[in-house]
Amino acid sequence: MEIIKVGLKENSHNIYIGYNILKNIPSYIKENNLGNLGLIITSRKVYSLYRDLIKRTFKANSYKIICVPNGEEAKSKKWLFEVIAKIIKLDTWNRKVFVICLGGGTVGDLGGFVASIYKRGIPYIQVPTTLLSQIDASIGGKTAIDLKEAKNILGTFYQPKAIFIDPSFIRTLPKRKFKEGMAEAIKYGVIKKRKFFYFLRDNYKKITALSPDYLLKLIYLCARQKAHIVKKDEKEKKGIRTILNFGHTFAHAVETFTRYKKLSHGEAVALGMVYAAQLSLLLGKCARQDLEQIKNIIKLYGLPSKIAFDHTTLCRAMSYDKKFISGRIRMVLLRKIGEVEVVEGISFKIIRKSMEKFAAVH
Ligand SMILES: NC(=O)c1ccc[n+]([C@@H]2O[C@H](COP(=O)([O-])OP(=O)(O)OC[C@H]3O[C@@H](n4cnc5c(N)ncnc54)[C@H](O)[C@@H]3O)[C@@H](O)[C@H]2O)c1
Ligand SMILES: [Zn+2]
Repeated sequence: MEIIKVGLKENSHNIYIGYNILKNIPSYIKENNLGNLGLIITSRKVYSLYRDLIKRTFKANSYKIICVPNGEEAKSKKWLFEVIAKIIKLDTWNRKVFVICLGGGTVGDLGGFVASIYKRGIPYIQVPTTLLSQIDASIGGKTAIDLKEAKNILGTFYQPKAIFIDPSFIRTLPKRKFKEGMAEAIKYGVIKKRKFFYFLRDNYKKITALSPDYLLKLIYLCARQKAHIVKKDEKEKKGIRTILNFGHTFAHAVETFTRYKKLSHGEAVALGMVYAAQLSLLLGKCARQDLEQIKNIIKLYGLPSKIAFDHTTLCRAMSYDKKFISGRIRMVLLRKIGEVEVVEGISFKIIRKSMEKFAAVH
């Protein structure tokens, strides 16, 4: 078992990574006196796939299961209050309740949010089951739900007591969801870890075949990097966490303003990374070779490196957005593989020009 320490003063906790580590959770809970009634928040799909494992690991008299819908639907006002109502029913005088989020990023975001506001905060632990949540969403203590007006609009910073990551969950993940996580893994290589970028490129066959050692190494290295960045800038106040947004400006624009609603977040991030590299090249910040390397690895993992899009419409739509109106666009740009910089005040003219180029290239 690998252990990553997330040192955050009174919010310090560990990330435990290893195959079959769920069995360690009940003893961890006892030793750390988290409570005597664990509320396992999970999604319907994860529950249907892992019912036996869950029942075997968490005994019925000390744990109760709360199933929420799959995907983004769970991060809603409706499910926030449904879950809280269930907790209130179970929270009798002799019980000390805590939460276990067992699922993807949506379950983690909802469960973490519930834990942070119920009775002004109860303990929770994360057991992420998608690649994205194992390498990203479960680490960092950001919790949120969506309102119809905006995604992640209600949320808190609230650290879990521990994070338990079992890479075997990835075996049942649909291929497309796996690739989506890979986009964020590639991002970690591009922004800070050149060696890791080449590890991903050179071992692509082993990784996509989910070879146990390679998968474990991949998750461990990404989780460690996310933890490291979070440690330095827990509440996103110092701008250090900003580099995690590499590829995300364009991704959000595409997700928000185009008809590409079928594009997953990871696919949009893959495109966004190519776009950011293209813009960096245009501004003379990186070499063409760096852009090509990013494109190649994205293709290698079956992610899109190009889309046919109407850049005029996208630019026009973006120009109505508050972020862009100010004319001081802030973006994470590439210097070379493993090194990025945050650039402020990029003009909309340049954005438009690079978008034209991006659309024209393909
Ligand atoms: N808090 C953060 O810092 C942070 C960071 C990044 C993303 N997020 C959030 O994460 C969410 C996306 O999370 P996600 O990509 O993990 O997807 P998800 O939680 O929506 O899960 C996707 C689907 O996979 C199913 N699933 C989960 N684990 C599975 C498994 N092992 N096998 C088979 N199916 C499985 C789920 O039931 C669901 O149907 C978004 O809401 C995003 O905003 C949060
Ligand atoms: Zn992302």
